[in-house]
Amino acid sequence: MSEDQITFAGCPTPSIRLGVGTWAWGDKATWGMGGYDADFTEDTIRDAWEVSLDAGISLFDTAEVYGGGRSERIIGRLIAEDPTRRHQLVIATKFMPSPWKLNVRTALLSAARASRDRLGVETIDLYQIHGPISLRSHAAMADALAAAHQEGLIRAAGVSNYSNREMGAIHSELAARGMALASNQIEYSLLRRRPESTGLLAACRRLGVVPLAYSPIGQGRLTGKYSVSNPPPGKRNFSGHPMEQVDRIVGELQRIGEEHGRTPSQVALNWIIAKGAVPIPGAKNAEQATENAGALGWQLDGPEIAALDQIGLEGQRKLQHRIWQHG
Ligand SMILES: NC(=O)c1ccc[n+]([C@@H]2O[C@H](COP(=O)([O-])OP(=O)(O)OC[C@H]3O[C@@H](n4cnc5c(N)ncnc54)[C@H](OP(=O)(O)O)[C@@H]3O)[C@@H](O)[C@H]2O)c1
Repeated sequence: MSEDQITFAGCPTPSIRLGVGTWAWGDKATWGMGGYDADFTEDTIRDAWEVSLDAGISLFDTAEVYGGGRSERIIGRLIAEDPTRRHQLVIATKFMPSPWKLNVRTALLSAARASRDRLGVETIDLYQIHGPISLRSHAAMADALAAAHQEGLIRAAGVSNYSNREMGAIHSELAARGMALASNQIEYSLLRRRPESTGLLAACRRLGVVPLAYSPIGQGRLTGKYSVSNPPPGKRNFSGHPMEQVDRIVGELQRIGEEHGRTPSQVALNWIIAKGAVPIPGAKNAEQATENAGALGWQLDGPEIAALDQIGLEGQRKLQHRIWQHG
């Protein structure tokens, strides 16, 4: 898949190759805002936002559960500060389909209205089901998404953490209602190559579903600033790899990066882009946003991609538990 051809079905947007994840924005438990990370404030978030927009990045990913709605509210304030930029934005948020929400249509519609209000937008560009944890059928979920689309609440529909089988099922149910499945947001990085080995990435390509890669720099562990002797703070335990294993990958990212004058994060993100997925790295400040934007505008060559393939890890099978961590 050429990186210039990625657009969301149903969402009239410019092509998207890289986005920004905003789980950390307003979150204390995992990311330390108002907690262990004293340098992380709404001002540093504004800097990250502006740097990203200036670099031509338009996709911002949030969720109703991030910071209990704070992430969406912060984005709403940033949009309100300069409404002239709304047209260049693709705002993606998520519905948490908790099993106790038995009337999923009513729950989704009211959640979408609340997210829209927190974001201060007329229509949510991409609305994603956070994970396949609902007790209701794919048909019921597709009905709810179609109703939200009909009401003008959402432009395009996506899912997250869906397997091949689950993605195929919701894709068919949406198609039966005249809607496309725009995206499947999955954990995909050099710490979790499972979406390749399970055929999920290939299935996305076949169905025209954009794979959005979350935790693409391993929750900060692939940036080179953490190591065995300096592990990351907070609960950054996706895929649970010992830092010794992570350090080996960082070493290879550093080696390849030196050839291009790039950092480990930029190489890790460029590898994902080369695989046809859209990484959505989190950024807490201008420095991180600038560095992450530097994943664009250059390309790893075939032998470098193969060397990274060789050293990348398969990662965990089950993801459901992490949806409950509100990632
Ligand atoms: N759908 C889901 O179930 C799900 C699950 C998880 C995440 N997501 C989405 O994916 C997004 C990204 O994933 P993530 O935030 O878990 O992990 P990530 O993008 O792999 O890592 C982000 C963290 O790494 C550090 N960082 C970022 N850029 C850096 C740089 N250039 N140099 C040094 N450190 C840097 C920052 O934390 P420190 O500065 O504190 O180290 C930042 O918060 C989330 O924000 C969210 O939107 C979705």
